[in-house]
Amino acid sequence: MKNLISIEKLKIEEINSLLKSASELDLNFVSNEMRHKKVLLAFFEPSTRTKLSFELASKNLGAQTLDFLPNLSSINKGETLIDSLLTIQSMGVNLAIVRHPEEGIAKKLSENLDMHIVNAGDGMNQHPSQALLDALTLKEVFGELESVKLTICGDILHSRVAHSNIELLTKLGVKISLCGPEKLIENKYTNLNRYDNIEEAVKNSDVIMSLRIQHERMKESEVPIVNEYFEKYGFKNSHFDKNKNIFLMHPGPVNYGVEIEDKALFNQRCLINDQVKNGVLIRMAIIKKVLGYIEN
Ligand code: CP
Repeated sequence: MKNLISIEKLKIEEINSLLKSASELDLNFVSNEMRHKKVLLAFFEPSTRTKLSFELASKNLGAQTLDFLPNLSSINKGETLIDSLLTIQSMGVNLAIVRHPEEGIAKKLSENLDMHIVNAGDGMNQHPSQALLDALTLKEVFGELESVKLTICGDILHSRVAHSNIELLTKLGVKISLCGPEKLIENKYTNLNRYDNIEEAVKNSDVIMSLRIQHERMKESEVPIVNEYFEKYGFKNSHFDKNKNIFLMHPGPVNYGVEIEDKALFNQRCLINDQVKNGVLIRMAIIKKVLGYIEN
């Protein structure tokens, strides 16, 4: 596995190998095994979790990291992204982790460069490392995922997290349902079960995966009215009482009072902090895998 571009391209053996490798790691893992490796972090959109966890993962493995700062780079003098990365590749950098608003840019880079490419989010298209960390989190809770009922709730249309998770969790046998305003769910998901509101979803699911309202990608007509949205689709703390077995996930960052009631964060069945921890572990496994430190 030279690159990580999309879930679609991952074989089930590669997925299982990444999940197994991540499950054998912990946050205290430190090695100098990759001291000769150089990892570029090229983020053209804001990020806290993905960027810092890839940086931490690289450093835990002993690799050197370089931060590409788009606003201070020669991109501002007209250099293309491919030219920029070709330049950085010539400096001996082995791997570029790229987040960019353009859909398909990670694939294009992988076709034009020899260095390894990991897609850290390309527009509304894919966020494969997020889906993998979510699968790792679910496996920690449920072990086998074959019959787990998970509802993705919210702005599915603009969510690369939803797109990658639907592909990955389907491969792993999770029963996925969707819940959210009609105009925020694509027609292509007509094969998936739908719930009209959060009450129905909570009653019939083992896990709610709530999603962020992506204001930055929405047309004016798609922006929901906050109070109405929270009432119909927001996860409230009382939902943990209505279904004593329900778990809550969210990729972050959370808009509290829109997608989730703030008190829900402190419930033991809220998995958000586990997702963040697993983000570091899965990204260590991804870096090891693409750089050839894990077989298969
Ligand atoms: N989940 C996620 O991608 O978060 P960041 O935007 O903070 O990286």
